[in-house]
Amino acid sequence: MEYKVKDMSMADEGHKLIQWAEEHMPVLMDIRKDFEKEKPLDGVAISCCLHVTKETAVLVKTLSAGGAEVALAGSNPLSTNDAVAAALADDGIHVYAWRENHDEYYWCVDRVADYRPAITMDDGGDLVTMIHTKRRDLLENVIAGTEETTTGVNRQRAMASQGKLEYPVIAVNDAMTKHFFDNRYGTGQSTIDGILRATSVLLAGKNFIVAGYGWCGRGLAMRARGMGANVIVCEIDEIKALEAAMDGFRVMPMKEAAKIGDIFVTVTGNKHVIDRNAVDLMKDGAIIANSGHFDNEINVPYIEGAAVKSEEVRENVMEYWMGDGRKLYVLAEGRLVNLAAAEGHPSEVMDMSFANQALVARWIIEKEKNLESRVYTVPEEIDREVARRKLSSMNVNIDTLTEEQRKYMEDWKEGT
Ligand SMILES: NC(=O)c1ccc[n+]([C@@H]2O[C@H](COP(=O)([O-])OP(=O)(O)OC[C@H]3O[C@@H](n4cnc5c(N)ncnc54)[C@H](O)[C@@H]3O)[C@@H](O)[C@H]2O)c1
Repeated sequence: MEYKVKDMSMADEGHKLIQWAEEHMPVLMDIRKDFEKEKPLDGVAISCCLHVTKETAVLVKTLSAGGAEVALAGSNPLSTNDAVAAALADDGIHVYAWRENHDEYYWCVDRVADYRPAITMDDGGDLVTMIHTKRRDLLENVIAGTEETTTGVNRQRAMASQGKLEYPVIAVNDAMTKHFFDNRYGTGQSTIDGILRATSVLLAGKNFIVAGYGWCGRGLAMRARGMGANVIVCEIDEIKALEAAMDGFRVMPMKEAAKIGDIFVTVTGNKHVIDRNAVDLMKDGAIIANSGHFDNEINVPYIEGAAVKSEEVRENVMEYWMGDGRKLYVLAEGRLVNLAAAEGHPSEVMDMSFANQALVARWIIEKEKNLESRVYTVPEEIDREVARRKLSSMNVNIDTLTEEQRKYMEDWKEGT
């Protein structure tokens, strides 16, 4: 079996979506032209565990243009766009993904592992973990992996610190041209997009609780404020909390925010950030969503257990009757709301994230023999190349240092 998707008759729709993304991803398309000529990934097996979106399709087709043999599974049960998956299968990519495949999710990851990857491309770390546990037979084939998101990088750093990481992983998430833009502006905009598509509520005047003021949380708080919401931030890190306060947001613990929030969004990468104590305090009508990688940021099983009745009242909106007269609404089962209820990040930011992925894949092949089993940051020259190419695509020119300035910056003797 070369692929498994929901419905091949959706392929035409998928091709149109991919074409739309290609038109908004100039950097990656430029890299694709280079790859077509140079074939830097000739014969390299790349197994990807990435959200199957139109933007991921542009990356996969770019890797393929570079000569790679690509297999693709989704990286979350609700994040696959079935039309895109069908179009990729139609293009000869080994896709194993469909929306709402919770039970089969790990089966799909296992299938892409079967292609015996030389490079793994992960978003969240499930493929890396699988290869280090139940598919250890594949370890000898892997040259290196790349990791797209904060949660995955955290997991792989934990593996490395316990001496359990058995191949090099390059933390694409940590590239500046990735998290400064994708996590902040991408998650900021697309999380709002997901909440609005699911609920169509007015944000102006609402108490909008953002749990986690990291890269994603900053972007989300900024965009929610832009829509007129009263944004309240919950944090556990004193520096991030201080930053949020000085950025002009109210900061308070979840147990206080829980009583006044109209809309709650978790973006922490942590577990049970909205737990039973917060749920019990929430107002009637509260809307609860998550945009962090895993679906355990909200204790949804507790809500399900405590509810006397539940009903899907709109697509991606589950209404829970709590027995005390309150109704609470959980979006997209507590999974990434921006991918489950909208289309994920806009193509323009994924252009940079996936340009890093493509250039890092080429770098891995060039450096193959010299990499150790640890977590690497993306080489600065790649990060800067992505920034230069993006600026150029936006027709933005910048200044360059004069010789006098360059010398001054390297000097320590000259004062006032
Ligand atoms: N939705 C998406 O498309 C998307 C995109 C990028 C990243 N992510 C995911 O979003 C999550 C956050 O990513 P990030 O890059 O912002 O990470 P980050 O490390 O920059 O920020 C996380 C923040 O959460 C805070 N935090 C941790 N536990 C908390 C708790 N119990 N209560 C309140 N705050 C808490 C941390 O102090 C930190 O400031 C990760 O799971 C990441 O993988 C999702």
